[in-house]
Amino acid sequence: MNLDRLKRIDTADVNGKRVLVRADLNVPVAGGKVTDATRLERLVPGIRDLAARGAKVVVMSHFGRPKGGPDPEFSLKPVADALGRLLGKAPAFAPDCIGGAAAKVVAALRPGDVAVLENLRFHKGEEKNDPDFAKALAALGDLFVGDAFSSAHRAHASTEGVTHLLPSYAGPLMIEEIDALRRALEKPERPTAAVIGGAKVSTKIPVLKNLIPKVDKLIVGGGMANTFLLAQGVSIGKSLAEPDFAETAREIMHAAKARSCEVILPHDVVVAKAFAAGAASAVHPVLETPADGMILDVGPKTVAHLKGILESCRTLLWNGPLGAFEIAPFGEGTFALARAAAALTKAGRLVSVAGGGDTVAALNGAGVTADFTYVSTAGGAFLEWLEGRELPGVAALARG
Ligand code: 3PG
Ligand code: MG
Repeated sequence: MNLDRLKRIDTADVNGKRVLVRADLNVPVAGGKVTDATRLERLVPGIRDLAARGAKVVVMSHFGRPKGGPDPEFSLKPVADALGRLLGKAPAFAPDCIGGAAAKVVAALRPGDVAVLENLRFHKGEEKNDPDFAKALAALGDLFVGDAFSSAHRAHASTEGVTHLLPSYAGPLMIEEIDALRRALEKPERPTAAVIGGAKVSTKIPVLKNLIPKVDKLIVGGGMANTFLLAQGVSIGKSLAEPDFAETAREIMHAAKARSCEVILPHDVVVAKAFAAGAASAVHPVLETPADGMILDVGPKTVAHLKGILESCRTLLWNGPLGAFEIAPFGEGTFALARAAAALTKAGRLVSVAGGGDTVAALNGAGVTADFTYVSTAGGAFLEWLEGRELPGVAALARG
């Protein structure tokens, strides 16, 4: 895949054309209201630009995981309404993403208008990347724009299939996401650090293996750090860990050593007897973790050490929290390091790129999302990129 081959929609002629945009409108909704509109906010400038250039913009997306048939619970209508509020004009809404109902809505569009199609996953052909379903989608556009980086790890009809049938371009959000990841991974300013946290080593093995040759400092946090500690023979009490992956953790540490990548584990930890809000907690050196305690966050000495590491680095890639940040006070380590990264970024000393579901929630918790160089809208796709995998929805746009 040659990413320099990505064709950009911002320089294409779209005037009077039907532009079929694969967006990711898969946002959290509760009681018919969008509770986090970040993905919509990031999408809107690209849609506005197309409309301003005279395109008839047809937006399509999946929403949730319906079981291959229509289900009112998974209708995109409330999301389309929220998108309309951000656009300043309600889009037309097609009650089906293919067929006569969709064709009618699209045919009524004038240049500058926007339509949203109902959930793609109401048809089994979407996830199967069925050529006939892709053909039915392609019938609704003259050009295709892939602007859903966060869905690009799916080889579905709307992300991949349709690119075989229409002239296809990358949208501005897609480009922005890819540029940020390339900046952190391809030719980063060195030294580089990665913070890889989260509950389980088992889900991040490919990420760790792929990053070792690419980063100078690998900061391991969260529950997965416990497995690394266990692998070194440290007693971690009742902490969450995956003993079956201790050997893998040792292999990763060996591989890192061979590549001069320093793996950094916690020195001190916040320990509680239970994982519950308001549970009494205390800081211990990691080697003195009580037998009846659970490690739930990194301690202040570790935070100070990690801050020093970030100060010595020029590029930071962050995926996953350092502790059980969802419950106070176990987010303090993550929040403190996030604030430090944000301050260094603001001072022009660090390029900071973060992504992944929990990570964004943690950065929001620290109130620093806007101060990072780039925060991805993607969860699974961000992770697969960090694993070094080719994303089908990106590769399809880079075929040239
Ligand atoms: C996401 O939210 O991660 C994307 O929209 C992809 O959704 P999916 O995991 O259901 O394919
Ligand atoms: Mg997902």
